Amino acid sequence: MKELICFAHRGASGHEPENTLAAVEKAIALGADWIEVDVYAVAGELIVIHDELLDRTTNGSGYVSDASLAYLRSLDAGKGQYIPTLREVFDSADRRAGVNVELKGPKTASLAVSLIEEYVRERQWHYEQFIVSSFNRSELKKVRKLNPHIRIGILIDRPRRHYAIFARRYDAYSVHALINIANARFIARAHEPGLKVFVYTVNNPEEIDRLQALGVDGIFTDFPELVVKR
Ligand code: G3P
Ligand code: MG
Repeated sequence: MKELICFAHRGASGHEPENTLAAVEKAIALGADWIEVDVYAVAGELIVIHDELLDRTTNGSGYVSDASLAYLRSLDAGKGQYIPTLREVFDSADRRAGVNVELKGPKTASLAVSLIEEYVRERQWHYEQFIVSSFNRSELKKVRKLNPHIRIGILIDRPRRHYAIFARRYDAYSVHALINIANARFIARAHEPGLKVFVYTVNNPEEIDRLQALGVDGIFTDFPELVVKR
């Protein structure tokens, strides 16, 4: 059977606070191939956090986008971890795992492209070590417009066909599908034009077995040890 690629979802978020450097380190220690993190733009910086509100994952409150960098950096994101920047995630991963940057907020595309270009140009990373994904198609379009080499992943949570048109037009690398829609037909149709199929978020070993048998290429999981070395 095809080996599964392991994406540590928000880092190894089943073990350490999500989207923190501790979760990145844990994911690498567990052998994850990729780290997935979510980003918003704040004052020209990409900030790593999942929700648009601070309340669930930190001891702060209010909208991430309204906050100052100083306030964001003063918060506890769990177990004394701070909210990292994307740059800190790249530095922490240090080419030991790829980084899947999920663009959550507006105006994230150009900042992500510039940062990736910098790490390719100056820090010996390769374009193959990054995937930029999003539910937001206009941010993905901007990525492609700015750089033809960056791998684009299309996120989908509903069984829609038109993602395939977008994928062809913007030369996407992969489709990142919610587990509920990843059936045999969906997977075959995505594979036909050469898209990789990565499924989120799967923490159940039987489900991972089932998806592997169906031929998916990779799994997003909060527990990387369930996917690595199967
Ligand atoms: O990128 C896969 C997955 O992270 C998408 O959903 O809400 O966990 O960011 P979410
Ligand atoms: Mg995500």
